[in-house]
Parts: sequence; structure tokens; C-alpha cells
Amino acid sequence: ESIEKGGYEHFMLKEIFEQPRSILDSMRGRMIAENNHLMMGGIREYENKFANAQRILIVACGTSWHAGLVAEYLIEDLARIPVEVEYASEFRYRNPIVNENDIVIAISQSGETADTLAAIELAKSKGATIFGICNVVGSSIARATDAGAYTHAGPEIGVASTKAFTAQVTVLTLIAMIIGSKRGTIETSKLHQLIAELEQIPAKVEETLKLDKQIEEISAIYKDATNFLYLGRGYNFPVALEGALKLKEISYIHAEGYPAAEMKHGPIALIDEQMPVVVIATKDSSYEKIVSNVQEVKARKGKVIAVVTEGDTTIPAMADHVIEIPETSEHLMPLLSVVPLQLLSYHIAVMRGCNVDQPRNLAKSVTVE
Ligand code: G6P
Repeated sequence: ESIEKGGYEHFMLKEIFEQPRSILDSMRGRMIAENNHLMMGGIREYENKFANAQRILIVACGTSWHAGLVAEYLIEDLARIPVEVEYASEFRYRNPIVNENDIVIAISQSGETADTLAAIELAKSKGATIFGICNVVGSSIARATDAGAYTHAGPEIGVASTKAFTAQVTVLTLIAMIIGSKRGTIETSKLHQLIAELEQIPAKVEETLKLDKQIEEISAIYKDATNFLYLGRGYNFPVALEGALKLKEISYIHAEGYPAAEMKHGPIALIDEQMPVVVIATKDSSYEKIVSNVQEVKARKGKVIAVVTEGDTTIPAMADHVIEIPETSEHLMPLLSVVPLQLLSYHIAVMRGCNVDQPRNLAKSVTVE
């Protein structure tokens, strides 16, 4: 087993550090940067169907559902098709409206999650086209779908998903770009810019991983906290949910992820000097708004751990701790901003003596309801 861990103490840490490679593998052969060409075998036959779809439904569970939320922002912005993201377990039991013009994207690392599989069968029976995004080749979900794309992240052993998430987001980004260019909803210059930026993501993830020591130090300060709040807006909102989920899963600290503006409708009541608040506040279209959210947290004496874009000076002047990550397009930011949150939850869990790779009560794939 120690050989399989490749010198890392846990599979989860190994998988976090594999991300520059796994992200590259998930785009390999699908993106030719020299001539700005995108291609994805699984989607080719269905490109017209995607381009003409009235609506895209996404079904998934857990971390894969968070990747689906990122895709909602990507597809609506780049391809201008309405997207609904559904928990597979709710979708399957609520008599949903689905028809033959709908495309359902099912996202699953394992390809074996019972609720996701059942949601697919239901959507299929109503005539929808089902597109799968799975990591495990030949899995039940991969076989149950009409077409699909594998994430190629390699085996993920740690129960808490890390590299599978970034691979899913990468593949979903490519899909949004492919449909957007087919529909003409994304300008050529914008497409080229995104392709160039996507190509740089593995190196930027590598840069982000160098923050490991700094994040370990921050973890030592907050390891005994009983609650955490994670806030983000726009593309970083699903990242806030994912950061909170990671912490809950492996450290057993209660954590909530929220869209930063919703804070005033509830979570703000929880903020006092004991409350660590992780704010993902990178430079994007909602930056000015999140600056005021950070002020609101500080006014209530919350402890702010801010993930910011390199070179930012406004948020660092207010935050208690600053984690600086490289700049990229806001469309791609989740691929970078999730990494420090994975590391934060990892180090806190290790310091609390938790079984990081096999947290209590959780399973890698949930094949029963
Ligand atoms: C379990 C795992 C999570 C995962 C979720 C969905 O809860 O512990 O890490 O995100 O299932 O799994 P899937 O294999 O469908 O992505």
C-alpha cells in the first residue's frame, strides 16, 4: 500500500498532488491549442442535439453535483442553454418534467451511484438523451448512457473526491466551449483565449500546490474550531460548497457553504470571533461585491481566511489569512480555487487524528439508496 501511495502519507494527499497531471489527462487529445481546435469523441455524434437542446438537466450526487453546479454557470454563460442541476435522489422521486428535447448529463466518479443510475433510467424512459461523465471506465452509468466522456483522472482511492472533481470540471468546461462554438454564442476571440488559459491550468495548479506549507500553518490555527463557514459568489459559489463538504467529510467539523450574498439571510447570525470564514474572493465579475461581504464578516469579528488572486491588495488588507492563487479566467477559476480548500481540509483532518482516506460512515461509491 505504501508503494501505491507513491511516498505520500495518504491517498487523498497523493490525489490532490496528482491534479496537474489528471487535469491534463482529462483534456488530452480534446484540445489542440495550436489551431484552437476542440474535439471530444463522445459528443461528436450528439453535437447538433446539444446545440439544439431546449434545456440541459444535470443529475449527480455529492461532489459530482458540485461539478454540475459549476457546469450550470459555464453552459449558461458560454452556450446560452438553460441548465438545471438536480440531486439525483430528489429528481428520481418527484415526477420531473423531462422530454425528448432534453439532454440529461449524469456526472459520477464511480459510475455506480444508485440514485444517479435510477435518475438516468427515469430520464431515459421519458425519451431524453443521456450523456454520462464518469471516471471509471465500463461502469454501470457509463454503460447506461447514450454517449459520454470519461474524465481520465485515474483511480481515486480516497473517499473524499478531489482529482475526480477537477477532471469533471475540466471536461464540463470543454463541453460548454464545444456547444458554445457550435451555437455561435461564444466569440472566437473569447474561445481562443479560454483555450489558451485552459492549457495553462495544469501549471497553475502546480503553483497553487506550492501553498501546501502555508495552508498547513493556517490549519494548525483552526484545527479545533467546531464550525466553519465557506463563502463564494459566481463560479466560486460551488467551490464554497465543495470546500465545506470536504471539511465535513474528513475532519467531522461542521461546515456550511453559502453563496456570499445569502449570508445575510441566516449564516451571518452565527458569526463571532470564534468563527473561521473561508472566503473565495478571486478577481472576477463579482469581486467588488465579495469585498463588501468580507467587510460584513470582519465587522462581526469573524476570522477571515481569504483565497485571493495574486497581487490583490484590497482583501489582504482586511483578511486574517491570505492564500494567493494564480490569475485565470473566472470560467476556469474553480479548477484553482478548490485546491487550497482540499489542502485545508486534509491538514485539519490529519491534525485531528481522523482517518482521512476512509472517514467514518462514508463510502466511496454509494450503490444502495
Ligand atoms: C459518495 C462519495 C463522494 C461522491 C459521491 C458521488 O458520497 O463519498 O465522494 O462525491 O458519493 O459519487 P459518484 O461516484 O457518483 O461521483
